[in-house]
Amino acid sequence: MSNRPSHIAIIMDGNGRWAESRGKTRSHGHEQGAESVRIITSYCANHPDIDRLSLYAFSTENWKRPKLEVEFLMKLLEKYLKNERKNYLEGNIRFEPIGDLSLFSKSLRKVIDDLQNVTQGCNGLVQSLALNYGSRDEIVRAVNALFPHTPITVELLNNALDCPHNIDLLIRTGGDHRLSNFLLWQAAYAELFFTNTLWPEFTTDELESIIKKFKTVERRFGGLN
Ligand code: FPP
Repeated sequence: MSNRPSHIAIIMDGNGRWAESRGKTRSHGHEQGAESVRIITSYCANHPDIDRLSLYAFSTENWKRPKLEVEFLMKLLEKYLKNERKNYLEGNIRFEPIGDLSLFSKSLRKVIDDLQNVTQGCNGLVQSLALNYGSRDEIVRAVNALFPHTPITVELLNNALDCPHNIDLLIRTGGDHRLSNFLLWQAAYAELFFTNTLWPEFTTDELESIIKKFKTVERRFGGLN
C-alpha cells in the first residue's frame, strides 16, 4: 500500500536568490514566489490525496529583514489574499492562517479574517498560511493557553496548537537542509524532502515527482513493519 500525502508542508525558500541571479530586486523574487504559491495551491486543490497544504509565508524571525523588504512582503500578502478570493472560492479551498496575527496591521488582519470567513464553508483543500509563525512561539502560546491545567498530555498540547495536524510530507526548496522553526512538533514523523530548486522555479512536475517518491517510502512511525 502506498503512502497518502494528506498533509504537505512547504518551506518556500529562494525567492531572493532567484531574483538576484537575474539582476532583479528581491521584491521581484517575492512576487514570483507568490505566483508559485498560486500554482502549487491550485495543483494541490485538484489532487485527490492532498487534504491540507501548509506554507511558510512569514516567520517570527522574518521581522529582522530590512524594513523595506518586510513592508513589501506585507503589501504583497494583502494584495494576494484580496486578489485570490475568487480562486479560493472556485477551487473550494479553505483558507486557514496559523501564527500570531496580532503583530500585523489592522488592514492586513481584516483581509486575513475576511478570507477565512468567506472560505469557511469550503470543504476541499485547506490551505494553511503560516504568518508571523514560529514553532517555538506556537508551543509557548499553547502552553500558556492551557495554564494552569495539569498534567499536560501530548493530546492536550497538540490540540492547543495553531496546527494540530501531523505532516506527512515536508518539502524545503532553495538548497538548505533545515527546518527553520517551521511546524517542528507536527513534523515528528514527516518524510523530509530537500530540493535545490529555488521557490519561484518550483513546478507541479517536481512536486509530482516528490510525491511519487514519497509514496514508495516505508513509514514505520517508530514501530516495525
Ligand atoms: C524565502 O525566500 C521566502 C520568504 C521569507 C517569504 C515567502 C514569501 C513568498 C513565497 C511570497 C509571498 C507569499 C504569499 C502567500 C503571497 P528568501 O527571500 O529568503 O530567499 P533567499 O534565501 O534566496 O534570500
